[in-house]
Amino acid sequence: MLKAIFSRKDLSETPDYYNCVRDLVENRCVEQLKDFSHHLGTSRFQHCVNVSYYNFLICRKLGLDARSGARAGLLHDFFLYNRQEKDPDIKGSHISLHPIVAFYNASELFSINEIEGDMIVSHMWPLAKNFPRHRESFVITFVDKFCALSEIALTAVRMARKK
Ligand SMILES: [Fe+2]
Ligand SMILES: [Fe+2]
Repeated sequence: MLKAIFSRKDLSETPDYYNCVRDLVENRCVEQLKDFSHHLGTSRFQHCVNVSYYNFLICRKLGLDARSGARAGLLHDFFLYNRQEKDPDIKGSHISLHPIVAFYNASELFSINEIEGDMIVSHMWPLAKNFPRHRESFVITFVDKFCALSEIALTAVRMARKK
């Protein structure tokens, strides 16, 4: 069952959303994101699904490109290494570098349009320098941070309850 944080919907049974991302979700390389922890108890795949779904809802509500929002959300953290394992020969902080790696990986496997590319590359703004050039990109900068904080908070609450 494919779910997003705070939602009870099975997203694979939600055609208006799932039809936008089916090829990404079912791709074997993208599935490898399930093997990486991203935020304290949340896999990178789940984080990307969370960002993808709320990008989709907010972009649709605002009359923006919801399909690009969904696709860019799924691919915005498409890097297949642990943060601590970044190649030391590659200069730059993880915060600045991983959006570029994600864009490169996504472009290798899928056709990425201008809006999707900008959303992926600029999603860390203002923590990284790439300034958003599309309204959809401002959406992902907000949604990504909202999802990250929510994932961490929910996991912390779960851990506290277990004590
Ligand atoms: Fe990121
Ligand atoms: Fe992210």
